[in-house]
Amino acid sequence: MPTDMTVNGEARRSARDPLTPLIDVLRDEFHLTGAKPVCREGFCGACTVLVDGEPTVSCLTPVGLVGGCDVVTIEGISSGGGLTDIQSRLEQGDAVQCGMCFPGMVMALSHFLAHTPRPSRDEVRAALTGNICRCTGYERIVEAALAVAAARAEVRR
Ligand code: FES
Ligand code: FES
Repeated sequence: MPTDMTVNGEARRSARDPLTPLIDVLRDEFHLTGAKPVCREGFCGACTVLVDGEPTVSCLTPVGLVGGCDVVTIEGISSGGGLTDIQSRLEQGDAVQCGMCFPGMVMALSHFLAHTPRPSRDEVRAALTGNICRCTGYERIVEAALAVAAARAEVRR
């Protein structure tokens, strides 16, 4: 039975078995390869996408469960097609090396900063507990997130 959903604003239909992990549908069927299948066990966060606005590990989510849902991947995170402020700040701050964690980090931070506009350092750290980075270390990522929050606050003033 096919599964209908919206992916990055477009209506999409998956012909895969409803038990197929969402990440395999995104990557293999829809050719959206931003989300990374690293652990496939739900603990690294590299496969994180937004489902109805909530960060979701797509490796453990059967596609049948997202029928009728709004899915956003790293490819759809920017409305204009360029980099978001989070992506830019992570790059500028040398907070990314191999890049495997990067899409999941961006998705998690996008959700977190949208709901916590003036976070503390500890709150940023807590928000990233589901996202593992094996190369960069977390301090630069935390610094980048705080810088984004500060820049957004400045714009709002
Ligand atoms: S690949 Fe999904 S959580 Fe690691
Ligand atoms: S930059 Fe390599 S895992 Fe984070």
